Amino acid sequence: MPEEKKIIGIVGSPNKDGRTNELVTAALEGCRKAGVETEIIQMSDHVVGTCRDCLPWICKDELKCTYKDEAFEFFSEKLLNCGGLVFGAPVYWWDTTAMVKYLILKMFRVYARTAPLNGVPAFGIGVAGGTGNGLASGLRPLYHFLQMMWMRPLEPVPATRFNFEVCIEHSRELGGELAGMSRSISPFKRREESLELYDKLPYLGLSRAEERRVLADMVIMALPEADRQGAAAGLAQADLLLVQGRSLESAAKVSEVYDQAVKKYESKV
Ligand SMILES: Cc1cc2nc3c(=O)[nH]c(=O)nc-3n(C[C@H](O)[C@H](O)[C@H](O)COP(=O)(O)O)c2cc1C
Repeated sequence: MPEEKKIIGIVGSPNKDGRTNELVTAALEGCRKAGVETEIIQMSDHVVGTCRDCLPWICKDELKCTYKDEAFEFFSEKLLNCGGLVFGAPVYWWDTTAMVKYLILKMFRVYARTAPLNGVPAFGIGVAGGTGNGLASGLRPLYHFLQMMWMRPLEPVPATRFNFEVCIEHSRELGGELAGMSRSISPFKRREESLELYDKLPYLGLSRAEERRVLADMVIMALPEADRQGAAAGLAQADLLLVQGRSLESAAKVSEVYDQAVKKYESKV
């Protein structure tokens, strides 16, 4: 019987003991509970260099970057031999971190054409902080990576400080699911199948305004039940303004609800 492959968890944060680490660790706990071995990788120990977009495009045939890059060789070996991936990264400027981008850009250049990870299951965890802005847009680069590599996605985890504990539990559950999928890898047969699956994932297709509304709702849900009602009514007003075509007023109402809810939240924690 072939040896079962490990599931790897990448912490795409410079902060080894931060929230990204906590969430990736929880996901890997879920994998181990389901009986699959895991390995956690701190990306800050292996920062990949920039892709130089070389021409002629030799690396796609040689399956190796022309320039010496030990960190990239390290990740290539880990990713090409994994049975599943948990990819966690903080949200920086409504986007992801530089070191995550460096890795994914080189991975595309060398491997996207041959798709050696077709069907390998994976999910991403985006970790927003103070404001929570970018909870969806920070996940997009991670899922763009999974999609370009033809990996089979589970739903994303959009973590903020307001839903952190819920996300820990959810990451653990998804880890268990990932472990099950890693035992019978199911490659995509057609691109359309992958396009449809990724298009159906929650959060990734949200507009900025929709994302802000989800965030406001997240803060409201973090409040004690007695404090939620007024805020929820505010969001209902914002929705009404939107259907009336008054999108700017609607967005301003969402911001107002969000600001008040954050104040309440901060007074309680
Ligand atoms: C350069 C930088 C940019 C950031 N940008 C955002 C942001 O756009 N939205 C947000 O909610 N938090 C932002 N944060 C906060 C981080 O997302 C947050 O602290 C997160 O927990 C960091 O993950 P870590 O605990 O693994 O380091 C930013 C932090 C830094 C250092």
